[in-house]
Amino acid sequence: MADLNLQEIHDTLISVAHEAGRMMLAANPTDIDKGEKLNCRHPAVDIVTETDKAVEKLVSSRLSTAYPTFAFVGEETYKPGIQITAIPTFIVDPIDGTTNFVHGFPSACISLGLAVDRKPAVGVVYNPWQDTLYSAIRGQGAFTTVGAVWGLEGGKGRKSKLPLAKNPIPLAGLDQSLVSIEWGSQRDGVNYEVKTEVFKKLCAVKENGGSMVHSLRSMGSAALNLCAVAAGQIDVYWEGGCWAWDVCAAWCILSEAGGLVASGNPGVWDPELDSRKYLAVRGAPTGQKEIIEEFWNVIGEGRMEYET
Ligand code: IPD
Ligand code: CA
Repeated sequence: MADLNLQEIHDTLISVAHEAGRMMLAANPTDIDKGEKLNCRHPAVDIVTETDKAVEKLVSSRLSTAYPTFAFVGEETYKPGIQITAIPTFIVDPIDGTTNFVHGFPSACISLGLAVDRKPAVGVVYNPWQDTLYSAIRGQGAFTTVGAVWGLEGGKGRKSKLPLAKNPIPLAGLDQSLVSIEWGSQRDGVNYEVKTEVFKKLCAVKENGGSMVHSLRSMGSAALNLCAVAAGQIDVYWEGGCWAWDVCAAWCILSEAGGLVASGNPGVWDPELDSRKYLAVRGAPTGQKEIIEEFWNVIGEGRMEYET
C-alpha cells in the first residue's frame, strides 16, 4: 500500500465519476415506456438497464488504462466464483439505485471503491442528479462536495468535512434514532422473514416490545444510505443482500467519518467486505457499540443467509 498514490487514484475516480454522471443524466429514463430497455436478473425486481452496462464499460476501460495491474470487480461483469483478493482491486457499481434510476427518482449514484488487502482504501460515490459527491482516502478524512459540476462556488462546489456536525451528539439508543433499511430484491424465504420481523420490531411501541425508532428510511441505494450515515443524517443502517460493489466505496467514506460497520447478523464486529450483511452506525463520541448490541438484540435468534 505504501507505494500506491491514493490521492492520484482518488482524483482519477472523481473524474471518472463525473464523466459517468453525465452519461447517466443523458440516459435518465423519465418515462419508463419510452425509456431504457429493462432486464431483470432473478428475482423479478433486481433490475438492470442498458445504462448500467454502458457505464460499467466506460469505467472499466478508463480504470484499466490508468491502472493496468489492478484487479476490477464490477456488478455487471461479475460471475459467481470471482473473488476479491489482497491485490489492489477496483470495486464498482456503475449505478447503485437502479430501481430509482428507472423511476426517475433522484436517489442513485455511481460507487467507485478501491480495496487493498480486502479493505476499503479509497471511496468515491457520486449522485449526478443532486451533483453531490462523497469521497475519502483511508487515513485522510471524508468529504462531501455539492455543486462542483453545476459551477457553485466558482466551479469548486461547496466542500464540507464529514460528518457534517462539528460535534456529533452521542448515540443515545434506537429510540432516539433515524434508521435506514432496504427491502432488497429477495421477497421470500428466511431472509425476508428476518427483515420484516426486524422492521416491525424497530417501529413498534415499547409497550409491545418494540424499539420505537424515530422512523425508517430507504434511500434505494446502499452506497447513499452509508453516505447519509457518514454525514450523520441517518444514525443506523442495516441491510442484508447487498454486495461488495454496493458498499466498498461508502464504507471507506463512513470509516473516515468516524462511523463503524459491523455484521448485519449478530456477533461479528469486523465483517468481511463481501459478507453481504452489514450494520453501520454514524460517528459519535459514545454509544456506537451499545447501539450495535441493541440492534443485534432486536434481531434476536433470526439470521440472514446470503451466498457469498
Ligand atoms: C441495490 C441497491 C438497494 C439495495 C440492494 C442493492 P442496485 O443495488 O443498493 O438499495 O437494497 O441490496 O443490490 O441493484 O441498485 O445496484
Ligand atoms: Ca447496480
